[in-house]
Amino acid sequence: MKIGLACDHGGYSLKDPVKEAITRSGHEVVDLGTHSTDSVDYPDYAGKAIRLLKTGGCERIVLICGTGIGMSICANRVKGIRGTLCHDAFTARMARQHNDSNCLILGARVIGSGVAQDIVEVWLTTTFEGGRHQSRLSKIDELA
Ligand code: RB5
Repeated sequence: MKIGLACDHGGYSLKDPVKEAITRSGHEVVDLGTHSTDSVDYPDYAGKAIRLLKTGGCERIVLICGTGIGMSICANRVKGIRGTLCHDAFTARMARQHNDSNCLILGARVIGSGVAQDIVEVWLTTTFEGGRHQSRLSKIDELA
């Protein structure tokens, strides 16, 4: 899969470890920045990744900011994006099995690089269960 990856300055410290976990799992990274710890606005970077996903330039996206909260708010504003803020492997697994997450969100000031890499690996390898979960996702699409 092609995975779009974007972060702000608060998420920058996790970008390389996340990139490593994605490539180690056999997937390709499209790095959308940011490229330093200079202060930037997280909606700009969420927007870059969301646009890439919506236009078919990648199959899923990973967003990182300091807490993961700002990126979550941005991602879940957009129809068709199922953004899931995950802090451990369990939530990452559930995000895929039950929520068909197409947008993983991480908080670099909340978790360390080892936990982040575990999350990424689980999120990339776990499949959606469908069934009753699909009808719930369809109801989400009807909300807006
Ligand atoms: C940046 O200081 C910080 O506000 C941002 O990375 C994120 O945590 C916002 O929700």
